[in-house]
Parts: sequence; C-alpha cells; structure tokens
Amino acid sequence: MSNTFASKTAQKLVGTIQVPGDKSISHRALMLGALAQGETLIEGLLPGEDPCSTAACLRQLGAEISPIDSTLVRVRGVGLGNFQESDDILNAGNSGTTMRLMLGLLSAQPGLFSCMTGDASLRSRPMDRVLKPLAAMGAEIWGREGGRRAPLAIRGKALRAFHYHSPIASAQVKSAILLAGLLIDGETSVTEPTRSRDHSERMLTAFGAKVIQDGYTATIQGPTQLLGQRVIVPGDISSAAFWLVAASIVPDSELYLRNVGLNPTRTGVLDVLLEMGANIAIENQRETCGEIVGDLRVRSAALKGCTIGGDLIPRLVDEIPILAVAACAAQGKTVIRDAAELRVKESDRLAVVARELGKLGAAIEEFPDGLRILGEQPLAGAEVQSYADHRIAMSLTIAGLIARGTTTIHEPACATVSYPNFFADLERIRTVNL
Ligand code: S3P
Repeated sequence: MSNTFASKTAQKLVGTIQVPGDKSISHRALMLGALAQGETLIEGLLPGEDPCSTAACLRQLGAEISPIDSTLVRVRGVGLGNFQESDDILNAGNSGTTMRLMLGLLSAQPGLFSCMTGDASLRSRPMDRVLKPLAAMGAEIWGREGGRRAPLAIRGKALRAFHYHSPIASAQVKSAILLAGLLIDGETSVTEPTRSRDHSERMLTAFGAKVIQDGYTATIQGPTQLLGQRVIVPGDISSAAFWLVAASIVPDSELYLRNVGLNPTRTGVLDVLLEMGANIAIENQRETCGEIVGDLRVRSAALKGCTIGGDLIPRLVDEIPILAVAACAAQGKTVIRDAAELRVKESDRLAVVARELGKLGAAIEEFPDGLRILGEQPLAGAEVQSYADHRIAMSLTIAGLIARGTTTIHEPACATVSYPNFFADLERIRTVNL
C-alpha cells in the first residue's frame, strides 16, 4: 500500500461485509491455546499485525502455531508452566494487549527469564499499571523509567495470590492478573471501578479454568491445567463500528455486517448510535463458544448529538474516534467525558481526533478527559495524519467519505493492525454502487 490513501466523497455505500475476527478474542485464543495441554483449533482468527505479534512471541516460548487453511489455525500448547525460555527478545509490535497479558504469564512461571519490547508507540505507553499489581504479587520486572515503560526484563517466580482493587477499568490489567493467577496457588482476584470487557473470563472458563465473576470482581482459582479447545472467533464489533458509522452518515447507504460479536461489555457503540438515531437492526442473534454473535443491518439516518461518559466508556473505549466522526455529521452537540484513557492508546486519541478532524473543518473542543463536538459543520478534504494509529487511519478515511473533495490520509497501512482488508472492503462497497 502506498504512503497515502485518498478518501473521496461517497455517493452511497451498499453491500455485505464480513468484518475480520475480534482482536481481543484472537489474542486470548492464541495465548490460552499456547498454555493449554493438547491442540486448540481457532476458526476466524484475526490475521492482523497485533495477533501476529502474539503468535510470534508464543512461538518463541515453544508453542506450535500453524495455519491449516485460510480460516483455521492450529495451536499445540506447551501445558501450564512449560514455556521455554526464549533465546531472543519478545517483540509485541504495536500491541498493548500482547505486552500486558504476556507480562502476567511470563512473570508467574518460575525460572523463566524474558525480555519484551515493542514499536515506538508501545514503548511510550504505560506498563506500570500492570507492573504494580504484579509486583505486589511478588513479580520481578524491570523496565525503563523505573518500570513504567518497555523494554522490560522479567524473571519469572512463584507469585502470591492477591486481591487487586484496580483504579481503572482495564481489561488488559485485569487479564494480566487473571492469567498470572492461573499459575498461582489460591484465589487471585481483581475488582474494577466498572466492568471492562470480559473475554478472558469467558475463554478461561471454556478452557477449563475456575473463574467466578461477581459484580465488578473476577476471581480465578489456581493452579489449573487448561485443555485445548475449538474456538470460533466472532467478527470484531470495533471493526464493524467503522461501517456502522459510515453507512449511517453517507446518504442512501445500506450495509449488512455478518457475524459480529455482541458481547455486552463491547456493545456501547450500538447503544450510542441507536441513541443518536441510527437505523441499525440486529438479526440472527446466537451464541458461539460463550460469546453472543449477530448480523447487523445498518441504513443511513439523520443522527443527533448525545452525551457519552461514565460506565459507558469501557464498553466503547476503542470506538470513540469513529463516534467522533458520527458526531461531526450529527445535528447538535456531542460531549464525551471520562475518556482520559484515550490519551494512552496507540496514539493520544483525544488530541489526534481533535486536531485531524479539525483540519477537515470539524468544530471540536478538547478537554483533558474528552471532547465537545459541534455537529453539521461542512467538512472539506485536507491532508491528515494517522500517527500510525490504526483506528485513527480508518476513522479519518470514513470522515473523508462525507467531506467535500479528497481527504489524503498519511500512513494508512497501519489499518492492518486490526483490519487488514479495510481499504479493499471500502472499495468493494463503493465501486459496486457508485
Ligand atoms: C483490550 C482492552 C482495551 C482496548 C484494547 C484491547 C483487550 O484496553 O482498548 O484495544 O484486548 O483487553 P483496556 O481495557 O486495557 O483499556
């Protein structure tokens, strides 16, 4: 792909899209498969850069991970506590989930020495949120800036069971602790201020671990040997969100999104879009491998502004950039608060959204923890930057569909982190129907 993508005003978007596999579930399927005894077959794994980073780390630790065909991947696990020491640095690339979850696993296996690094974005992101609770459990982890940032060195030890009251609702923090808890004798638990996505709890249970969810507390009873499973990964609602917004704001559009994960800890984007007046219907709702899945039909609609904050934020934390694009097209004002976490994602997403959508003519005011967006300002094509952040690249591309003229997005290829076929899917639903 070239260094820029030209996003042009769209007349309409029509067609059917199978969004790629859920990124969070893909990471967990690979990790639990690698830890389990026996074989795990994963159907619909996201072939994006982030899960590839997880797979590469797990291979270095002794797991066998091999594609069987374009939809099925086989993992031969090493069994609990049997990771081999890697003779090289483990590289998590752009993936915070890979690094934070692996820290839980690596620090709890006695005798295992590991080093982890990532790309420039990941090396700038806070790791102390995971290091602190793991250190309280006895973990030995060293890193730059007093352990705040990668590269990190980890010496695995037998950790102590612990109850952690997390100051933030973060699935990565919770999962790192629960994964460490798999190897720990006794009950390890995490209480969050509000519930973050619960894919780890669901998948650990499916692999045979003893996990209890009680309110905002998740508890694991260790040690437990996991057994290989067949996992079916649903489509990623965070990827579907780009099309939900695109079809809502481009006139005369209708898209059918098949097989989208509808785990209630992830569906905040649906709740907000429906409140904004979107025309979205859920069809064929069903359950697959402990996760709710459905098909979504979305048609263009006149949107109105809304308020987003509080407990909703963890349920749509990755969708705020694309919801900001929806807010630009909506009538009235949209206010987003309690979203300071966005400042430590793959980029500072509050600053980048305000600045780059601003270049297109959007009226956005930035707060320390959110944004205020005044809708219905006419957007006009301009040169914009993704800052190598996949969700920013895709959000700006969708904004370009309603901007006059051409919007040129720099560094668009980072979309492959979570959605390798994003631009191909866009061309397909446009070219067929223009
Ligand atoms: C993820 C959790 C979220 C999300 C990230 C993936 C996960 O982060 O932003 O893209 O797979 O656990 P936090 O819940 O840690 O904020």
